[in-house]
Parts: sequence; C-alpha cells; structure tokens
Amino acid sequence: MKFKKNILCIGAGYVGGPSMAMIAYKCPDCRVTVVDINPARIDAWNSAELPVYEPGLDEIIKKTRSKNLFFAKDIENQIKENDIIFVSVNTPTKTFGAGAGKAADLQFLEKTARQILEHSQSPKIVIEKSTLPVKTALAMERILASAKGKITFEVLSNPEFMAEGTAMADLEKPDRVLIGSRETQSGLKARAELVDIYARWVPAEKIITSNIWSSELSKLVANAFLAQRVSSINSISALCEKTDADISEVARAVGMDSRVGSKFLKEGIGFGGSCFKKDILNLVYLCSYYGLQEVADYWESVVKINEYQQDRFTANILGSMFNTLAGKKICILGFSFKADTGDTRESPAIYITRKLLAEHAQVVISDPKALKNAAIDLASDKGKISYIEDPYSAASGCHALAILTDWELYRKLDFQKIYKSMVKPAFIFDGRNIIDHKKCFDIGFNVYPIGKPALSRFEDQSSV
Ligand code: NAD
Ligand code: UGA
Repeated sequence: MKFKKNILCIGAGYVGGPSMAMIAYKCPDCRVTVVDINPARIDAWNSAELPVYEPGLDEIIKKTRSKNLFFAKDIENQIKENDIIFVSVNTPTKTFGAGAGKAADLQFLEKTARQILEHSQSPKIVIEKSTLPVKTALAMERILASAKGKITFEVLSNPEFMAEGTAMADLEKPDRVLIGSRETQSGLKARAELVDIYARWVPAEKIITSNIWSSELSKLVANAFLAQRVSSINSISALCEKTDADISEVARAVGMDSRVGSKFLKEGIGFGGSCFKKDILNLVYLCSYYGLQEVADYWESVVKINEYQQDRFTANILGSMFNTLAGKKICILGFSFKADTGDTRESPAIYITRKLLAEHAQVVISDPKALKNAAIDLASDKGKISYIEDPYSAASGCHALAILTDWELYRKLDFQKIYKSMVKPAFIFDGRNIIDHKKCFDIGFNVYPIGKPALSRFEDQSSV
C-alpha cells in the first residue's frame, strides 16, 4: 500500500512509543516507524510484552502494529526513507563537565542530528519532541545546515505534554498541541504539514502555533508550574502538621477558587518521575546562564521543598517508631513514581528506601507493576530487600506500612486482615493520603498521614 506520509520517530521510549502509536491509529494513511539504538527495546515493542506499561496502549498497538506502525532497528535506512522525523531521545541531566547536575545532557540529541545529516538523501522536516533547553533548535539547525548539496532541513518544536499513567487519554484528547517553527516561508510550510497530521483528531482551536523559542521554553515552564504547585501544597502540609490544620481541607478551599483551580494540589511525598526535577534544574541552569540569579533561585526552591518533603517523611517514620528502625521490618506499598505506571525514574520511593536502609531497617517492597524496575534501581542493596507483589504477603510480619504510590488497589485493602498479620504496635505512614485513616486507627494501627494530625496511641517521640 502507498502511504500519504512517511513518518519516523527516533527514540522508542515512554514518549516515542505511545505518541507514535496514537499518530498511527488516528492517521491510517500514514506509515509510522519507530527506531531506537537499543535493539532490546525494539524487540520488546514487537513482542507481546511491551517495554512500557500504559493503560490502553496494548489495544492501540494491537490495532496498528504491522499495519501502519512499525518498530525497526535499521536507523540509517529509515532516515533515508522517511520525510518527517520526530526526535524523541532522552535528555537527562548532565552528570559531568560544565553545568553538571543541572544542565541538559544533549549528547543523544546531537548524535541523532548528525545521523540525520549523514543519511538523508532528500529534504526532511525534523521535529523536536524531546524536552530541550530554549535555543536547542539553533544548534540542531546549524548541524543540519552543514549538509552537502541541496538537501534542506526544517526544524520544528513540538513538545509532548502527556503524563505517564494517562498517556493514551492525554494523547487522544490533549489540552493543547504546541507547534513552534521559524516564521519563514519554509518554516510556516513545515508547520502547516505538522498541523495537518494533528488536525485529524485534535480540534483546531487546541492546536497552537508559536515561534520556535516560545515553544521550546513553554514546555520547561509548563513542567515547572506543575511541579511548583506540588511543592506549594507540600510546603503547607508541613505547616498543617504543626498547627492541627488539615491539608486536604486547605487544598479544597484554595483550589475551589477558579483562579487557582483544584488540579495538582494533592499533597504527598513529593514529585518524582523522569522530568519534573530535570526540567526545573534545566530552567534554573538557563536562568543562571543568562545572569538571572534571583529567577534561578526562585525555581530551585521548588526542588528543595521536594527534597525536604521526602526527608520529613522519613524523619517522621523514625521519630514515630521510637527513634530506631534497626532490625524492624517496613513494608513499602508502591514503588512507581505515580499510579498506573511501572516507571520508577526519580521515584521518591528510591530515596526513602535508601534512607530506611541507612537506619538498618529491613525493607519489603510491594508494587503491582514496578518490582522489576525497583530491583534494578536498588541493585546495589541486593540481599537487604525483599520484593513481594502481593500486598498481604508483603505486609505480613512487618512493623510498619509506608504507602508511597497512590495505586487504587491500596485504597481497597483489607486493613483488618493486614493488621492481624503484623508485629504490634503496628504503624501506617500514608505518604499519599489515600486510605481511610480513622478506620485504620480504629482497627488498631497508629496512623501518620501527610499534613494532618496523626492518629496515634503514643506521645510524639520525634524530639526524644
Ligand atoms: P526514554 O529514555 O524512555 O526513551 C528515549 C529513547 O531514545 C531510549 O530508548 C534510547 O535508547 C533512545 N535513543 C537515545 N539516543 C538515540 C539515538 N541516537 N538513536 C536512536 N535512539 C536513541 O525517554 P522518554 O521518557 O521517552 O523521554 C524522551 C524525551 O521526552 C525526554 O526529553 C523527556 O524529557 C521528554 N518527555 C517525557 C515524558 C514522559 O512522560 N516520560 C513526557 C513528555 C516529554
Ligand atoms: C509530567 C507532566 O504532568 C506532563 O504534562 C509532562 O508531559 C511530563 O511530566 C513530562 O514532561 O515528562 P508525569 O511526570 O508523567 O507528567 O506525571 P504527573 O502526573 O505530572 O506526576 C508527577 C509527579 O508529581 C508524580 O510523582 C505525582 O505523584 C506527583 N504529584 C502530582 C503530586 O504529588 N501531587 C499532585 O497533585 C500531582
């Protein structure tokens, strides 16, 4: 069959796989190919067990794979054969050299640009889908402009706003699609071509266009604003614990102001995930680079509050359990950075587990989707941790439960049954405020929520 457009995506990760599956699903007249330097990842995309868990993804892959969606390893050949190329490679925080710990590591992006340059034999539209520092397109353009002969490249920015766990719904009904381009004739033509793809299923008023720098910067700022809300509510949760105010009540009252809005005001153990921290630090780096130190400090405080929240949570466990965890068994319910994903990148659970191990606690980790990743993250602590998927077996014989992910299944657990199997006095630290605290207290637990008065049979031990 002859397809109307041939689309390639370089990078078959959490973004590349699901976003291209959605394009293939909505555009049956387009041929969509996804490539990756990691051949095992491509094999997994071609298998029954996809490398990424996302509700609804399996169904869409089944409907499109080998029809107009392909996962392939021959990157060079695919670059030759496709006219529209999305770049969705990873852009982690730099760990070396100038800007280490803050700036984005653009080596994967640059390698991709050079590969595109080397193997292209016809004009291409190259689309940044990765999250990038503002002005990255300039570097991309400069590399591609060194092409010999008459091959031309147009660089667009089309950042992705999907969240993990709801990726398919977000991709199908996005709040907006943002496309940035140069405002030249060829830039506007390329922009129109990409608009045409999204217009198959996204209402016209939700497809917004801008200059390329605004587009790059908007993505960083969107993540910074979302993370800032989480840090704002978490900072107030600390004050609630000192004043007997209840953070859920405060969040409800504040969020009902339509100017503030109710989303992203859920208190917890802080944000995790591969992007919030990295993108804010990237913003902080950019601000410092441009000499805007006050602005940099303002955004850095969002990350500092996030770390403070995780430290507070572990300090509370230690203080409440009579200031020693040595030899005590603690069951961690939930290891992924949020519900409905197996992703554990930057999960607060990693940091909290390490803190508990440092106190010589014995840790049992339970999670419905993330145990494989948890074992990889904590490989250096092998032997000190048990991994048990069933929450009832995991909790049995433990002194405390720490709920670290907001999985729906934890709301519905039979806490009476769990209580019976635990060592007494039994403790629950609800890092996500998702269970019925009063009910658990009545069963016999000592219950420690976030930002609400503890329901405990003991005096506060933390100052002992
Ligand atoms: P990921 O690590 O899951 O996937 C990136 C993939 O790119 C990897 O499989 C890697 O092997 C591949 N890759 C790297 N260099 C390559 C090269 N030269 N050629 C071919 N493949 C190459 O990362 P991700 O979570 O999909 O994120 C990708 C980008 O999207 C990042 O910039 C991220 O900030 C952004 N983003 C992520 C999310 C999310 O929810 N994960 C959401 C929006 C935006
Ligand atoms: C986030 C953004 O929501 C996406 O728009 C963006 O595309 C993506 O980052 C990205 O660039 O990678 P994601 O990290 O997948 O998506 O998930 P979120 O739902 O944003 O949650 C991030 C973290 O904040 C999680 O640990 C979550 O538990 C926490 N969170 C979120 C809270 O603690 N409270 C809230 O009210 C909301």
